[in-house]
Amino acid sequence: MLILGIETSCDETAAAVVRNGREILSSVVFSQIEIHKDFSGVVPELASRAHVGNINEVIGKAVSDAGIKRGLSKIPPVDAIGVTVGPGLAGSLITGVVTAKALSWLWKVPLIGVNHLEGHLYSAMLDHKELDPPFAGLIVSGGHTEIVHVKEHGSYRVMGRTRDDAAGEAFDKVAKLLKLGYPGGPVIEKMAKKGDPFKIKFPRAWLEGGYDFSFSGLKTAVLYYLQNLKKDNEKIPVNDICASFQEAVFDVLINKSLKAADKVKADIITVGGGVSANSTFRSLFEKKAAEAGKEALFSNKRLSTDNAAIIACNAYFKYKSGIFSKQTKLTKIRVDPSQEVRCW
Ligand code: KG4
Ligand code: ZN
Repeated sequence: MLILGIETSCDETAAAVVRNGREILSSVVFSQIEIHKDFSGVVPELASRAHVGNINEVIGKAVSDAGIKRGLSKIPPVDAIGVTVGPGLAGSLITGVVTAKALSWLWKVPLIGVNHLEGHLYSAMLDHKELDPPFAGLIVSGGHTEIVHVKEHGSYRVMGRTRDDAAGEAFDKVAKLLKLGYPGGPVIEKMAKKGDPFKIKFPRAWLEGGYDFSFSGLKTAVLYYLQNLKKDNEKIPVNDICASFQEAVFDVLINKSLKAADKVKADIITVGGGVSANSTFRSLFEKKAAEAGKEALFSNKRLSTDNAAIIACNAYFKYKSGIFSKQTKLTKIRVDPSQEVRCW
């Protein structure tokens, strides 16, 4: 069973072919970072235009890289198409959905709409072939921070989510304060490696009694810390700020996820989304999970950030459950207004 995945929810135009939900035959990601970096964030109109310009080539390359042995004249080259239908930027999502609908009509194969967050939730399955629900899943992306109980395929209960900034958003905003460029995560990770994570005591919002998160206070604490240094004309210890900031983020994410996993008696916690590409986060999470008698599972780093293989993976399990989207009607696109604001 071959599924073509298409992902265009924000600033990556991506397509992938995945066999039986777990084996990646091809994965092509066109990143728009160069287009948006001067704006310190994603500009929706520019993102839409870049998706329109690149999507045909990206899909063509994914299909040809997959080396599908069905013969060139044989259509369809795949058995179904999975496409991200939200949350994300409206114009960007529409590009992927309309393309998927056109191919589904042309090839006469089913169309399967996938929530972008389901993709991140399923990313670990591509590298851990034996992994199946139930498990607890942490999503830490640029627009979302959620801890989810995955009871069985397609059955999710959100146990906690951020009340303000997402974890990745906090990285991006702190990088902006430090004038480190966009996106913030990779550059903060790099600087943090040279700093002391316990040098500055940044606050942790524990929000006791539940599994929600809050990162805007931490971001403001970094701002005040910088303002005080500037007022006193002191040198800015960028490496220590980065290390102490990310330590504060990881401390809360890991502790709360372990507590949530305890609550639902889950021994396995999967972690997906852009922030999970951070090596320090990975090793800290693995260590703390092991100490608590649990296992933290990540995908390889290329699958942590946005890509279409995770969409095809989730679409496969929907296919097996008989969940399809209607080709004749416009697939419902879910737009997240907070994501639109973030991207500006
Ligand atoms: O999942 P993703 O690629 O896109 C969304 O769905 O939002 O996540 C992007 C986010 C950005 O905020 C970026 O700064 C963050 O993930 N990120 C990282 C790292 N790489 C990307 N955060 C921390 N450390 C990293 N190495
Ligand atoms: Zn994402």
